[in-house]
This record gives sequence, structure tokens and C-alpha cells, in this order.
Amino acid sequence: MNNDSSSRIVTGLLEWIAGAPAGARLPSTRSLVAEYGASPVTVQKALRTLSGRGLVESRPGAGTFVRAVRTARPLDFSWQTGALRSPQTRLPRASGTMRDTVHGVIPLHAGYPDRELLPERLIRAALTRAARSDAAVSRSPVAGLPELQAWFAQELATATPVGVTPPAASDVIVLPGSQSGLSATFRALVGAGQPLLVESPTYWGAILAASQAGVRIVPVVSGKHGPDPDDLARAFDETGARAFYAQPNYANPSGAQWPAARAREILDVVRKHGAFLIEDDWAHDFGIGTNPAPVAAHDDSGHVVYVRSLTKSVSPAIRIAGIVARGPVRERILTERAATSMYVSGVLQAAALDVVTQPGWATHLRSLRDQLRARRDLLIDSMAEHAPRAHLEWVPQGGLNLWFRLPDGVYLPEFLRSCEDERVLVAAGDEWFPAEPAGVFVRLNYSGPNPGAFPEAARVIGGVLDRMA
Ligand SMILES: Cc1ncc(COP(=O)(O)O)c(C=O)c1O
Repeated sequence: MNNDSSSRIVTGLLEWIAGAPAGARLPSTRSLVAEYGASPVTVQKALRTLSGRGLVESRPGAGTFVRAVRTARPLDFSWQTGALRSPQTRLPRASGTMRDTVHGVIPLHAGYPDRELLPERLIRAALTRAARSDAAVSRSPVAGLPELQAWFAQELATATPVGVTPPAASDVIVLPGSQSGLSATFRALVGAGQPLLVESPTYWGAILAASQAGVRIVPVVSGKHGPDPDDLARAFDETGARAFYAQPNYANPSGAQWPAARAREILDVVRKHGAFLIEDDWAHDFGIGTNPAPVAAHDDSGHVVYVRSLTKSVSPAIRIAGIVARGPVRERILTERAATSMYVSGVLQAAALDVVTQPGWATHLRSLRDQLRARRDLLIDSMAEHAPRAHLEWVPQGGLNLWFRLPDGVYLPEFLRSCEDERVLVAAGDEWFPAEPAGVFVRLNYSGPNPGAFPEAARVIGGVLDRMA
């Protein structure tokens, strides 16, 4: 054995490995001994060197193999910086609420409900039926399955008072989730460079979609009862905006709900300014202490574009939502939607429709209300007991979230990191502000897995706040 022949074998094998697919078996020790005229000990030494560099792995009794991940060399993508140039608009980063969770953490940061809150039996049966139906092998109409369009229209019609003409099935566009609907609507109704009024705080995904559409976002302060109609009127006057995006029922993040009189006043302001209200009814199925009251039910003059999602209440795996838009605006939105998603999977539409038309759906929604109430109250009580420095803005009457204000001196990134170190994930309130945040806020979601851990999570949050105070 000598070092020279070992490195000769290493060099030869490096060349061999460079041309071999991952998982390839190296020549046997015996053939390497013959090829290089070296002893078996020298060959073994060369193989150990390659193994030490992470290039091969030996499996006793089977041989030595090229490893799947062969190199720790950092890959060079720097050329893309030149090719991509600067983004036209600087988009906010993907939200922390979409972070995957690992086992053992208490996830209060996420937005989609845990599976124990879903109608799992109905979903599985619906998917089985949908798989057997024609929808599994055909293209859906561009605006959606007529029966599902009719269901969305009918649901809104049941909330429509006498004297207002209810929407028709032909006013509905089916969407692959409401996020894409917001994006299509902002592009269709506002357009690049034009102003869009939004509540502040508001849904981070709406801020993202609006930024991507290049629209100019104009915040209007919103509180427990929604925005002040005079503020809204002033913002319309000052900016010349023709659209206002809002969540009148159980707003994400704060859970605010507009009282009926306020909703009427706001609709009046929108009408007077010849504008659209883009109403995001994401939490329609998540009423707790009240029922949702869509503003769109009071409008038959095409001022409200109503976005209703089923993804959180039916299943995050069945991404289906509907838009009710009346008048020429519907065609405008449909064109935008068709440009990005052509049409929506008929299987998912059939499954969603199946779930919401089963007798078990109403029963499920009743039990969901009780479960959400219990979870909300447990988290509120836990926070009040263990984290009294966190101030709950108000008790939401629906939705999935609590909106807490933290003491002003708290540095939010450090707070989040400290909570995470103790395996509690919370969402940074900053994400919900279209401009500078009005304080230090966090959003806690009570629909995630393991509500039994809420007291423990509150203890962690309280402990971190005590240390930071
Ligand atoms: C207020 C609001 N609107 C819209 C969406 C998007 O929902 P989806 O695309 O799943 O329908 C969400 C999701 O978190 C939301 O919170």
C-alpha cells in the first residue's frame, strides 16, 4: 500500500463517478485491484476517502454506490439576477401563516382549520362520487358547473331582502379558491397604477394580490365596527378610487363585523362614488355569536362584487370559491380569471357541490359553531390568565382568529423568535397592515390542531412578554 496509488485510484474513481448516475454501483474491489494493480487495502483506503467526501456510500454485502446528493458545492444561480432584473413591484414575501409546521410545535400562526373541524366523511364520499361522475373526464364550462353556480347564487338569494332582486346563477363565476378571485378582481376592476381602498388592517393575501396587480393600495382605518363611512368617503374623494376591498363579516385578522346600519352607510358611500365594494366573505361558515350578513344581499345594482370561499369550511384540498358579480363587470372578471386558470377542475366543483348539498352539511356547520366557540373561549381564557400583557382588541363573533395588541416596547421579531424557541408559532401582525403597522400586533388562530395545548401556548407567550417587558 502506498499513498500515491491510493490517490491514483481516487482520481480515477472521481472521473468515473462524474459520469455515473446517482445510485450506480462502483466496480468491485476485486476489479479495482486488478485495474490499478493495487492491494485490496489500498483500494479500501481510496473508497474511504471518497466516502469521507460524501460521494459514495458502502452497503455491507452489496457494494459501494454513488450517493444521491453528491456535493456540498453551492450552486451558482447568480446569472439569473441579470436575466430577471428588478421586479416591477416589490411583492411582500409569502406570508408566515403559510409556514409548514413540524411535529411538536403549537401552531397558532396558520390560517386553515385542522381536519377535525372538517366534514371529513362527507368529503371522502363526495370525492368518490365525483371520481365516478362525468366531471372526472370532461372539461367544465368556463364560468363553472351550472349547478354550482346556482348554489352560490341561491345561497346569497336566501339572504336577500324583499325589494332587492336576488342574483341569478348566470351572475356567478366559479374560482379555484378565492385568492385567485381577489387577484383577478383587482386586475379587472382597478388595474396597474390605479388606487384601491382597503381596510387597515386587512388580509395579507389581498395586499399581496393587489401589489402583484400593481395597484396603488390606499388604507382606510377599520375597527370593531368596520371603517368610519366619513373616512371612507374622504378616501374616495381624495384618491378618485373606484373600488374598496373589505371583509364586512369576521374580518381576517381582527374578527370585526360591520353592524347592519354601518353596512348600509358604507354601501351608500360606495354607490355615491360610482364605485365597487369587493366583499370578501371568506368566513361565511364560521359564525359563532352572530350570523354572517353579506352586504351583497342588499345590492342589485352591481356595486358589490361578492367573493365567497369554500376552501376553509369544506376542505383546503377542495379549492373552490365563487364570485357573484352583476353587470358588465362579470365579463371583465371572467376574462381575467380565464387568462390565469382557463376553467376550474370539474371534479373539485362536483365534490364541493356534493358536500354542501348533503343533509349532513347543515349538521356539520352547527357542530362547527360549537367547536369554534369552545376553542375561541379557551384561547381567550388562557391568554387572560397567562399572558395578561397581551391586549385582546375585542371578542370576535366569528372567524378563526384573535387579534392581540402587545405592549409598545416589544420588538416583534424577537418576540416571535422567543416563542418559536419554545415551540409556539404565532403570526406577526405586521403582515396585515398595508402601510406602517399602527402598533405591535399578533394574530392567534384557534382552529389549528391540538386546542388542548392553548393554555401551554399562552403560558409561553406570557412568559416571553414578561421577560421582554
Ligand atoms: C380574508 C381571506 N380572503 C381570502 C382568502 C383566500 O382563501 P382561499 O383562496 O383558500 O379561498 C383567505 C385565506 O386565508 C382569507 O383569509
